[in-house]
Amino acid sequence: MRLATAYVLLCTLVSVVAISSPCPLGFVEHNNSCYWFSKTLVNFVEARSFCQSFGSHLAKVTSKVEDDFVSGHAARHGKAANYWLGATDLNVEGTWLWEGQQAMNYSNWSRDQPDNFSGGEHCLDIKQILGNYLWNDEKCNMAANFICEKEL
Ligand SMILES: *[C@@H]1O[C@H](CO)[C@@H](O)[C@H](O)[C@H]1NC(C)=O
Ligand SMILES: *[C@@H]1O[C@H](CO)[C@@H](O)[C@H](O)[C@H]1NC(C)=O
Ligand SMILES: *[C@@H]1O[C@H](CO)[C@@H](O)[C@H](O)[C@H]1NC(C)=O
Ligand SMILES: *[C@@H]1O[C@H](CO)[C@@H](O)[C@H](O)[C@H]1NC(C)=O
Repeated sequence: MRLATAYVLLCTLVSVVAISSPCPLGFVEHNNSCYWFSKTLVNFVEARSFCQSFGSHLAKVTSKVEDDFVSGHAARHGKAANYWLGATDLNVEGTWLWEGQQAMNYSNWSRDQPDNFSGGEHCLDIKQILGNYLWNDEKCNMAANFICEKEL
């Protein structure tokens, strides 16, 4: 009897959680997208496949509203040093494209970035400097946290 009651309570709880967010478990909802902030550090290519395995992609930040959400969430909750986003200049050297293809109509580079520092930096991350997360070009094989996005 007690077990049955506990089971009913659990099912109610699970369905309430399911109804209140249309996002997969662990993803945060914001303006028609779901975001997942990783707690582990991997290189850019690993991060990209990780997001793909969840039916998502590395986050594409295409407006100030979205940028403020992503950097604000990172600053308040994740607090990692760096998070990969889904852009590179690998296809066209010096031209940053979302998923290697889509033009960036919005950006928020940190001062003097992208600087393609010694030997070349071709992957985009947001990097924590004094509590803010601004955009930075990074060596793609560096280990960093990452943000996946799934549109609803
Ligand atoms: C929400 O996203 C849509 C596109 O998906 C965009 O047109 C709209 O401006 C966004 N709203 C806010 C408040 O950013
Ligand atoms: C860039 O990000 C900072 C900190 O998150 C924010 O205050 C600023 O408004 C952003 N700049 C643009 C151009 O959106
Ligand atoms: C970045 O640095 C690499 C290695 O020095 C160089 O081959 C490449 O042309 C540079 N790219 C840009 C956009 O400056
Ligand atoms: C940037 O603007 C171009 C031209 O309007 C559009 O085709 C493209 O989809 C936009 N890119 C993003 C990431 O929104």
